[in-house]
Amino acid sequence: MSMKISQAVIELRTVFKYLKGNQAHGRAHDILRALSLDVTNIYSAFGLFMTDYWQDASKVSTTSDFSIPIFRDQHFHLEMGIFGPLVTREEGYSYAMMHDHGDSILSTINAFGSGYTTLIFNQNRTNSNSNIYPLIYKRHELGNIEFINNYTPHVVFYPPDLTITYALWSSPSERTMYGRLRNLIASNVREREIERKFGIANPTYVLQKHFYPENGRIQYQPYEIRGDIGVNFVQNFLYKLQQISFPDKQLVIDSLDTKCLSTLENEYIAKYLSDSQVSMNHDGDDMIKSRRNCHISEYHKCFPNFDFTLE
Ligand SMILES: [Fe+2]
Repeated sequence: MSMKISQAVIELRTVFKYLKGNQAHGRAHDILRALSLDVTNIYSAFGLFMTDYWQDASKVSTTSDFSIPIFRDQHFHLEMGIFGPLVTREEGYSYAMMHDHGDSILSTINAFGSGYTTLIFNQNRTNSNSNIYPLIYKRHELGNIEFINNYTPHVVFYPPDLTITYALWSSPSERTMYGRLRNLIASNVREREIERKFGIANPTYVLQKHFYPENGRIQYQPYEIRGDIGVNFVQNFLYKLQQISFPDKQLVIDSLDTKCLSTLENEYIAKYLSDSQVSMNHDGDDMIKSRRNCHISEYHKCFPNFDFTLE
C-alpha cells in the first residue's frame, strides 16, 4: 500500500524513537517501499523545492543532481535524491567520487527511473588501496532498496535516464564529540536555516573519505572533488519536470517568475510551457571531472579478478 510523505515521516519518527542503527533501518524499509509507490510524493517534493528551497537558480547544486530535504530531526533525515543522466545517457562514468559516509548509515529506494549502478566495497578502508576490494556491483532497480553501511566505500555511476530515490540517513553516532555537536545543530536550528548555511547539495554533514582509481590502484583523496555549479540548471530542471510529468505548470511559472533568468532560460521555459521537449544540457558544465567522474574501466584495472557483469 502506498503512503504519503507526511504519514511516512510520522511512522519513521516512531521507528527511530525506539530503534537505532541497522535495526531502525530494517524497520523503516517497508515505509520507504510504501512511500515510493505514490508518484504524487515526487510532485510534492518538487513543489517544496520550488516554493521553499529554490532561492537562486544559479547557486543551486551541481551540474546534474540535486537533493530535496524532506524531514530532519536528531535521529534521522529523509531526502529525495535526483540523478540526471549524461546527455549521451552513457553509464560508464561515476556520478561522484568513490566515498564512504563515515559513521552514518543510509538506505535508499529507487522511486523513479531505471536506476544507477553501484559498486560497493568491503569496509576495511585505509588511506591506501591495500584493504579495499569490491563486493557487489548491481543496478539500483525501481523499487529496490540499497543499504550502505557505515564506513563502507562505494561509488555510483550515471544512470541511463532520470532516476529519483528517497534517501534515509541515520544521524551520525552520538558517541563522538563531533557527532553530538552535529546532532545538537540538527535539533536546535531550523532545518531550512541549516540548508541555507551549508548548501542544499550536501545536507548530510557526513564525515566522508574519498577515493579514486588511477593506474590500477585505488588512491585516497583527502578532500572531495565536487561538481561545478550548474550553469544550465534551469534547463535541466525543466527536463526533469517533463520526465516526471509534473502536473502543476502554474507553480512552475510562479516559482520561476521570482528568479532573475536569462533570455535563453526564458526560451526554455516557453518551450516547457508549450510541451516541446526540453533536453539535458551540460555545455559549460564539466560533467566528467578528473578524479571525480571516473570511467568504470579504471575500476576494472584495479580489480581484474572481480566480475563487473550485471545480473
Ligand atoms: Fe554515498
